[in-house]
Amino acid sequence: MPLVTTKKMFEDAYKGGYAIGAFNVNNMEIIQGIVGAAEKLNAPLILQVSKGARKYANHTYLVKLVEAAEIETGLPIALHLDHGPDFETCKSCIDGGFTSVMIDGSSHPYEENVALTKQVVEYAHAHGVTVEGELGKLAGVEDDVKVADDDALFTNPDEVEDFVTRTGVDSLAIAIGTSHGAYKFKPGQDPKLRLDILEEVGKRLPGFPIVLHGASSVPQEFVKLVNQYGGNMPNAIGIPESELKKAAKMAVCKINIDSDLRLAMTAAIRQYFFEHPDHFDPRQYLAPARTAIETMVAHKITDVLGCAGKA
Ligand code: G3H
Ligand code: 13P
Ligand code: ZN
Repeated sequence: MPLVTTKKMFEDAYKGGYAIGAFNVNNMEIIQGIVGAAEKLNAPLILQVSKGARKYANHTYLVKLVEAAEIETGLPIALHLDHGPDFETCKSCIDGGFTSVMIDGSSHPYEENVALTKQVVEYAHAHGVTVEGELGKLAGVEDDVKVADDDALFTNPDEVEDFVTRTGVDSLAIAIGTSHGAYKFKPGQDPKLRLDILEEVGKRLPGFPIVLHGASSVPQEFVKLVNQYGGNMPNAIGIPESELKKAAKMAVCKINIDSDLRLAMTAAIRQYFFEHPDHFDPRQYLAPARTAIETMVAHKITDVLGCAGKA
């Protein structure tokens, strides 16, 4: 099976009351770890590439690695551009083998977001590619852009119908209290998602797939491991998995996770070097990092997303 769009994945996920994991990829070991978990659990997958990942690893290397993952496993895998900043970047990914793109116009005024998103949708649909748009602003860090907490805005349910109808997007990322990065909330805070907004959005857009960005949970045991083996990460907490599970049963069909993979990988590499200070073969420390990613993704698929067995 060639790489797929998100269309059927989202239709099945919406009907089945589960979500697909969209995991950020930057190199071969990350891809292999994610795909290893999905293969064992027979789960559909979205592998997503940010502007920063394309700059780091090169567009063609990443496309070919993701194609290799599909050839090796036969799983339904969508290759998705994460946070496409402009039309040109989306076009370059559509022309270069991606099956899905996000155009992130959320930092623009509403009418500019509509116009930019519509332009991408027209080009993408003419080439058989699905498009994710975004309404509302998440706090945190994306590429080099930092959105301050007070500048973050929940999505206004009154706008979603107009936005989706006028742009023709296939899915919509909304802001309901998630945020990017590892430092989402301070210890002692009790983060809750605005599931009331999600419910209202679901009523306005029946059957339409919703996306959650910034959905890492920042498991404390991994922060502790990083710090136990020489790291110095400030203590922080992420989105409770119990909240994400509820969202996955509602209209949310795609949940984005990057920071938790970074944390798992970093903890494994730190531990490896702490225990083997004389080793220097990259295969020795990247193998446990890849396994740590696989374990993290298997946990997300089974305990949060509910998409095991849905490939
Ligand atoms: O939302 C952002 C993703 O975590 C990608 O991060 O831009 O550092 O590759 P990046
Ligand atoms: P996290 O930083 O919470 O993993 O979010 C990743 C994301 O939204 C990628 O688009
Ligand atoms: Zn994001």
